[in-house]
Amino acid sequence: MTCSNAEFAGSPIYICLAQQRWTHVHSFDQRFNERSGSSLSRMSTPLLRRFQCGRVAACRVLRRLSCPTVAPARPTPMFTPSIISSNMATGTIEVSKQRFEELLESEVVHFARALRPHPMTLQQILHLQDAKSLREFLLEELPIRYARRVQLIESLSRWSDFPHMRVIRSLYFDAFRKLRAVPPEEEERFRSMLQDIKRRNANMLFHVMRGVRTMRAKHALSEEQVNRFLDEFLTARIGTDILSSQYLAITKPDSPTSVVTPDCDPVDVVRTAAGDAATLCRHHYGWSPPIDIVDVGQVRFPFIKQYLNYIMFELIKNSLRAVVERYGSREAAEAYPIRVVVCGDDDTIVLRVSDCGGGIPLDDMDQVWSYLYTTAKPACEDVSSASDSDDDDNDSDDDRGIAPLAGFGCGLPLSRNYACYVGGWLELHSIPEYGTDTYLYLNRAGNVEEAMPIDIDAHLPIRGAFPRAA
Ligand SMILES: Nc1ncnc2c1ncn2[C@@H]1O[C@H](COP(=O)(O)OP(=O)(O)OP(=O)(O)O)[C@@H](O)[C@H]1O
Ligand SMILES: [Mg+2]
Repeated sequence: MTCSNAEFAGSPIYICLAQQRWTHVHSFDQRFNERSGSSLSRMSTPLLRRFQCGRVAACRVLRRLSCPTVAPARPTPMFTPSIISSNMATGTIEVSKQRFEELLESEVVHFARALRPHPMTLQQILHLQDAKSLREFLLEELPIRYARRVQLIESLSRWSDFPHMRVIRSLYFDAFRKLRAVPPEEEERFRSMLQDIKRRNANMLFHVMRGVRTMRAKHALSEEQVNRFLDEFLTARIGTDILSSQYLAITKPDSPTSVVTPDCDPVDVVRTAAGDAATLCRHHYGWSPPIDIVDVGQVRFPFIKQYLNYIMFELIKNSLRAVVERYGSREAAEAYPIRVVVCGDDDTIVLRVSDCGGGIPLDDMDQVWSYLYTTAKPACEDVSSASDSDDDDNDSDDDRGIAPLAGFGCGLPLSRNYACYVGGWLELHSIPEYGTDTYLYLNRAGNVEEAMPIDIDAHLPIRGAFPRAA
């Protein structure tokens, strides 16, 4: 289409129609209307003459000119200026609280999307011994990891309709805010802030389990989405917890100098876990089946003791429950001890837990890795509306009662997360009607980078108070 009319020759109309640039349309539109002041129907004929083009094309031009979508409103500034004062001499700018929150929110997006966390190995963490450089590293690293956690929550559609998800989001946003506000030279403040973040996040497992179970119950998530989200989210918690714990360990007087035990004795850890699991079992059932621990080769390796303890505690609890429910009494179970074998070669440490507790039906084998699957009475509350009430107290203590032996449904999947995080693996083999073998493989050298589907922070999940030793 060409414009023969001298009045509009060289007009940006052609550019605007070809490129949809509203400024040109707008200027043409203004000029056109100023000069003719006609309606669309009446103007199509003069336009025909002016542009010497077909009626359809002319009408299209006019429709575009008169259509507000072609000429959108002038862009309005995204943020209203809210600087309260600025001091050029000191280089400080005072902004309103609302503006500060907006800036933080945009920082979260930037940190989560544009910056990448640095995956570490257990050996590297073990050697982070200088408090100043670790603090400087954490001030960059932790906000990236927390920001990614915030984004992970926001990736769930309708997350904000669920109070527990809002609590989790606000806990991580708050951690992000604190870390962005603390000056690197303030050693004590940084230390107590890390402790505070850990304390406030201690009940995270409860919130996230309740949140996603409610979302599942209200059909906001499929079971597959629940498991994928929890795998990423709960794995992501481990890294931030390890890094924070490392800083707290090296800055605490008279404490071990790392969260990683350089020569961890797995048999020692298994003994502690077995003793704790048996105590819990006695508390609930009044008796506990025998447990044999077989030490092959006295292997040692760099590992985080409390994580190994967590995994072994969960595996042994499962075996205890199976044996108790199958045999019914200590006398009947005497001939079927649970057996834990600990061994390894130069590369791998292997721990096997075997029981004769009747096994798992083969059809249910995939299900055992789901966070929503348990054959025990569900322990993590039902997901009725009452359990999803708004909870403003982020430190609420959900775990005053004694921990159940089973019923959360997350012992196996969470243990697998801990194993995978440090380059290990967890497998479960079952012979239906006979028993179950669970194999834990761990990297012996501690030189595998942490798994980072997204990232992590976690206190060990708290599932209830522990009964006092009988
Ligand atoms: N050794 C075992 N023998 C028989 N069944 C088992 C064994 N280990 C696991 N299971 C089955 O797998 C299910 C899931 O185990 P998982 O440890 O993940 O959750 P849970 O034991 O039900 O609850 P919790 O999270 O409190 O441990 C169990 O409910 C049980 O049915
Ligand atoms: Mg269990």
